[in-house]
Amino acid sequence: MIHVSATPVLALRGVSKRFGAVQALTDVDLEIHAGEVVALVGDNGAGKSTLVKTISGVHPIDEGAIEWEGREVRIGRPHDAQHLGVATVYQDLALCDNLDVVANLFLGSELKSASVLDEIKMEKRARVLLDTLSIRIPSVRIPVAALSGGQRQVVAIARALVGDPKVVILDEPTAALGVEQTAQVLDLVERLRERGHGVILISHNMADVQAVADRVAVLRLGRNNGVFRVADTSPEEVIAAITGATDNAVTRRRARTATATKEGAK
Ligand SMILES: Nc1ncnc2c1ncn2[C@@H]1O[C@H](COP(=O)(O)OP(=O)(O)OP(=O)(O)O)[C@@H](O)[C@H]1O
Ligand SMILES: [Mg+2]
Repeated sequence: MIHVSATPVLALRGVSKRFGAVQALTDVDLEIHAGEVVALVGDNGAGKSTLVKTISGVHPIDEGAIEWEGREVRIGRPHDAQHLGVATVYQDLALCDNLDVVANLFLGSELKSASVLDEIKMEKRARVLLDTLSIRIPSVRIPVAALSGGQRQVVAIARALVGDPKVVILDEPTAALGVEQTAQVLDLVERLRERGHGVILISHNMADVQAVADRVAVLRLGRNNGVFRVADTSPEEVIAAITGATDNAVTRRRARTATATKEGAK
């Protein structure tokens, strides 16, 4: 049983985005509820990264609307998204190898007292944050260069949580990871849902999608091509929607069912 709020924390309504001659997104709808993991899938060039960048303020939308907790908002730059409570973890992790875990977590949002870095406070907060997320790391004072790929990924995700965002966007968080490290990251995604964050998970990996997502939204050639409830959809059906192999009428019917179920919860 999935417990989600009735009003989506974030909703995209008919969003379009063009880059010169390239129509990257056309009339795209997407809803994310608190305490829900929505996988965003689609072939290379389908528009996933562009969609995420419209939400995170990197590429403002051309048409359509973005709603935050039911109210229309304008996300014109990254600061607007952060201010609302959107945190994005990009694929290139952008951690500073030579800095330790604490310094990476608070990079750009350092805690100070009397204009001096408050290392003790930051270390304490870092431990609390990692503990609540059940993230185990040998020491918060080792440089991240000494961590495994999976540990680095969870540190990058933990860093996004320092500002306590309501929506967390993860762009291919397991793409470079082995089996055990992937499990560690997927565990963390589960924890984010338990804590009530809305999560958008971009993934090419159907096993990951099946393991943690509540719903999966398919983009194809910059348009919606179905939103499925993972519990009653096979990976083959999702893949068919990604490649365009399914009869579109079937896809649309499934998409309507997923939406109707959601609305029935209101
Ligand atoms: N800054 C940009 N300028 C021009 N075209 C762009 C820009 N960003 C994306 N595009 C184009 O928009 C389309 C969607 O690209 P996008 O990166 O969103 O796809 P994607 O689904 O993330 O693909 P992938 O799985 O390969 O990461 C592509 O045709 C791409 O070339
Ligand atoms: Mg991409």
